[in-house]
Amino acid sequence: MKVLIVGGGGREHAIASAVARSPQVDKIYCAPGNAGIAKIDEIVPIGVMEFDALADFAVENKIDLAIIGPDDPLVGGIVDVFCARGIRTFGPDKKAAVLEGSKAFSKDLMKKYGIPTAAYECFDDPKDALSYLETAKMPIVLKADGLALGKGVLICNTLEEAREGIQTIMVDKKFGKSGNRVVIEQFMTGREVSVLSFVDGTTIKTMSSAQDHKRAKDNDEGLNTGGMGNFSPSPFYTKEIDDFCQSHIYQATVDAMAAEGRPYRGVIFFGLMLTDEGPKVLEYNARFGDPEAQVVLPRMKNDIITVMNACIDGTLDKTDLEFSEDAAVCVVLASDGYPEHYEKGFPITGFEAFEGKDDYFCFHAGTKFDGDKIVTNGGRVLGITALGRSIPEARSKAYEATKWINFENKYMRNDIAGSVK
Ligand code: GLY
Repeated sequence: MKVLIVGGGGREHAIASAVARSPQVDKIYCAPGNAGIAKIDEIVPIGVMEFDALADFAVENKIDLAIIGPDDPLVGGIVDVFCARGIRTFGPDKKAAVLEGSKAFSKDLMKKYGIPTAAYECFDDPKDALSYLETAKMPIVLKADGLALGKGVLICNTLEEAREGIQTIMVDKKFGKSGNRVVIEQFMTGREVSVLSFVDGTTIKTMSSAQDHKRAKDNDEGLNTGGMGNFSPSPFYTKEIDDFCQSHIYQATVDAMAAEGRPYRGVIFFGLMLTDEGPKVLEYNARFGDPEAQVVLPRMKNDIITVMNACIDGTLDKTDLEFSEDAAVCVVLASDGYPEHYEKGFPITGFEAFEGKDDYFCFHAGTKFDGDKIVTNGGRVLGITALGRSIPEARSKAYEATKWINFENKYMRNDIAGSVK
């Protein structure tokens, strides 16, 4: 069969590697892909928001399955466009992808169906938001309603910071129309865990847990990023927590979406906070996490094509997910200055050290070809993942492998998975 993967980051490289392991697949295309994905797929120079051009390509090339990686095209309705053209597609349609596309929608859904989450209020008018803040308890969390490249969440420690946040999101419109509405949410403390799942409209099967490190600098300092590294499984995500989440959060969310006339098919990513009062939902995403996919998919034993087809056909109840006993750690190599200002275009060397090793992965995120050289082309450049018998073993292998790669402004955190002994 022929597969088209839409996207071009580390997540799509991890998806492409899993798809390439399927004996059902003869040919993989990736649009727009990147320099690493080009090693396993044919890359197609069409952007992720060019829905008609992508659909034309899929029809002309007789694609049997399209897999949509990133949030923007999902929330923008690419699955609806593809399905209308008869293209079999893995991912939620526009009505369902609103679970990630609108934070106000997802918070209202959780409130209506009793799914545990932080207390919140939504505001369309900055004046109302500011007057609410006058009596609110700090710290507090401000979230732009729509997509904002993972940067639309501000944690404010003082009233002054919160006022500035409202100015940034709703008045200066730093995140464009995503900031027309804001969710103001109680600040939760605890350990964060990411749980990805496959969903077929009624059945949900969760993948192994992961824990992300979102801040740019060691000790969780610096700005929020898309993720600077992570590990899987999370030893803090116990059987007892999983039992609670399966019924009160995961299945409850799938049932709530179906009851709202928005049946969900695809991946739901649950961002959870393990609080003193029990697990609560921090956020939903309508896709694989990045870099979560880079530690979870290398551990998945199932044929990903079979699982994705079960999601589309509504037969996921007949599939059990299996994960390797090995742990995985991913360390992101970024361009110094990310997530703000950074230079790109620097040649990257050292890829050959990964060849022939099946317990090491070098996932490309922001890379491209410059002639026959591979150069940096983004804030997050590469995800270096290693497998090991324990998190500490995988961690020490991943950090060793970060030394194999060189580029001029290479930057990484040094404490990924460091709290796991
Ligand atoms: N790592 C967080 C995300 O994918 O949104």
